[in-house]
Order: sequence, then structure tokens, then C-alpha cells
Amino acid sequence: MKSSQRGAVKPAYLMEVLEAANKAEKSGRSIIHMEVGEPVTGVPKMAKEFAIKTLTDTHLGYTETLGIPGLRQKVANLYSHRHQIDLSPDRVVITTGSSGGFILAFLAAFDAGDRVVLSSPSYPAYRNILTAMDIEPIVLPSDSETQCQLSPKLLDSIDGQIDGVLVASPANPTGSMLSADELRQLIDYCDDRQIRFISDEIYHGITYEKEAETALKYKDEVIIISGFSKYFCMTGWRLGWMVVPGDMLVNIKRLSQNLYISPPAISQYVAIEALDCGEELDENVVRYAQNRNYLLETLPNIGISKFAPADGAFYLFADVSNLTNDSTTFCHRMLEETGVATTPGIDFDPILGHRFLRFSYAGYTDAIIEATQRLREWLK
Ligand SMILES: Cc1ncc(COP(=O)(O)O)c(C=O)c1O
Repeated sequence: MKSSQRGAVKPAYLMEVLEAANKAEKSGRSIIHMEVGEPVTGVPKMAKEFAIKTLTDTHLGYTETLGIPGLRQKVANLYSHRHQIDLSPDRVVITTGSSGGFILAFLAAFDAGDRVVLSSPSYPAYRNILTAMDIEPIVLPSDSETQCQLSPKLLDSIDGQIDGVLVASPANPTGSMLSADELRQLIDYCDDRQIRFISDEIYHGITYEKEAETALKYKDEVIIISGFSKYFCMTGWRLGWMVVPGDMLVNIKRLSQNLYISPPAISQYVAIEALDCGEELDENVVRYAQNRNYLLETLPNIGISKFAPADGAFYLFADVSNLTNDSTTFCHRMLEETGVATTPGIDFDPILGHRFLRFSYAGYTDAIIEATQRLREWLK
């Protein structure tokens, strides 16, 4: 029977580690989860209480396709607080996770056969969603010389047409960020050449040395993808948003109506509340900062000392080529022998990823300390 080639995308190795880690945990072993990129804390307290109340008091049906007006307004307000940008809520589109935002953005911006540039290492779903849509991902290797990000010089090295450029700052798996100036240069480069610029800003709010700048500051034609999973600790609620150019709104609305009808209602009500929980959410960022400092200080003493610039998000992308040439096997052995779960680099970089491991430090500090103690013993 016929099956599509489009469905034959790469698997997420992270999920394999997660399954193995969960299985070991169920069998009674003590597992420290540094593989998954999600906050341990869950939705803020006030938002959780509001969720319980909403479930009893409110009829949760379909909502407006582009999202509840009150939520779109509050997301627009966030740009005014964080970036001093006056954004019309009409340009905010609420989506089913930022993952749903990618599907809408790619469908609305590109045709089959178009070419979209991204850097490697990067979040694997970019490549896989584009491929599933018959859009060609052009993956440019980046390293610490380019802060693991794209640059106009790297874009100049591409032969042939470019239809889109996709960046994330802070990025997954590296945590690296573009400076405001670097971001502006990339946007100008794309604008001059009529290339659609997409900025994944899902890790905004989780930065350490400097604030992340939004691409929205420089051009209205960019597409912003963001969401409630990371800073707002709402992974399981599957809610994200986009900021789109006014002239794309009609198509995005039509696509969204047909693909999703509307984003999940309960999640939208809870998100309205979560947007007021900055104090509690900022406490998480303080803990991530402590975890990051602890790991940057401690891991080099046990033989893991080369990291991509960890400016934001909650990841360390470590070059472990001094310890292994096969980080997938290394990662499985580490889980088996120490109970510490991490993600092998091949998820993010199919070519050089065998030399890298990603550590997520979104967990509790005690667990992170325990993990390094176990690794110290193991690597002795
Ligand atoms: C860079 C990046 N973008 C997007 C996502 C997808 O997030 P969600 O669909 O939960 O909003 C992730 C998830 O880890 C990510 O790391």
C-alpha cells in the first residue's frame, strides 16, 4: 500500500533516550533527567489554580481561530514591556505550541521546492518539518567562530536561490544568541534580497549575560515564532504564538481554520493568567542561572570542558570528542551506568553531532549537583 516519502523524516533520538530513562525509572532506578528541554516546575501556581476554576466554571469549546482576543492583546502587551514595541494584537496569532506555528509559517511563506537556510547544530524539527513539506532545508555548519549562528558571510556562501532564513536566539541545542547588531544585519541582508526571515524566539526570557532582542524591532515583514513552553513552563499545554506581517494574516487564518480549527481553549485561559506570573517565572530563571554557573565551573574538572556559547535557554552543548567518537553509544552507557540522561548531538547535527552531548539544566539544582557527582565517579 502507498505511504508517502514525506512521512519518512528522521527520528528524534532524544525521545529514545527519554523512553529508556523512563523505563529505567519505572523499574526503580534513580534517574536524573538532563535530556529533555522542559522546565521541571510546571505552570505557575496562580495559573494552575485558575485552570482548576476554569475547568469547573467555563464551557470549553472551540475558540476564535487566531486565539482568544484577550490573550492576543496580552501577548502584544508583552512586546511593549519586554521590547518597548507597540504591537497591534491583530498581528498576534495563537498556535498549538510553537510547533504548530512552524507548520503555519512554512505553509504560508513557502511553496514546495523553495529553499530555507538554517544553521547546524539546530533544533531538528526545523529540518524535518521543512522536508515533510517538500521545502528544501539548506543547512550551514556553524561553529564557535560564528557563535553557532548564521551570518551574512555564511549566507553569501550559498549557491542558488534562498527563499527563507530561519534563526533562533537563544538557540537549541547551544544556547547561543545573536547580538542585536548581528540580528539586524541578517534581517537587512534578507530584506535587501526579498528573503523571508523567520525568528524562533521561544527561549526569550531565559537569558544570562544580555537580553535577547526581537526581530520585530527591525522589520514588520519578519515572522516571529514563540510560545508558552519554555519561560512560561507550559510544555504540556501545547500553546504558542506567532507575530506575522499584516498581509499574511488572511492566509494564516484560513490555514489555521482548516488545520486546527482553534488552539486549545483551556490552555489559552491559563496562558492569560501565566502572563501575569513574571515574579514566579523569573525565580526559575535565577535557578537556571545557578545551574548553568555550577555546570560551567564543575564539568571542566571532570573532563568536559568545551562548550558552545551558552548565552541563554537551559542547555550546554558539550564537545565530548576527548571522551568518545560516538556520543549516542556514550549517552546510552552513561544512562545505563550512572542514571544520568542526556541527549546525543546527532539529533541536532547529523554530521558532527557524534562528537557532542546536550545537557539540559532546567531541573532542580540538587539533581544537577548529584548528576555531576555521578559523572565524576564514572569518568574517573
Ligand atoms: C528552539 C525550539 N523551538 C521550538 C520548540 C517547540 O516548542 P513547543 O512546540 O513546545 O512550543 C522547541 C522545543 O524544544 C525548541 O527547542
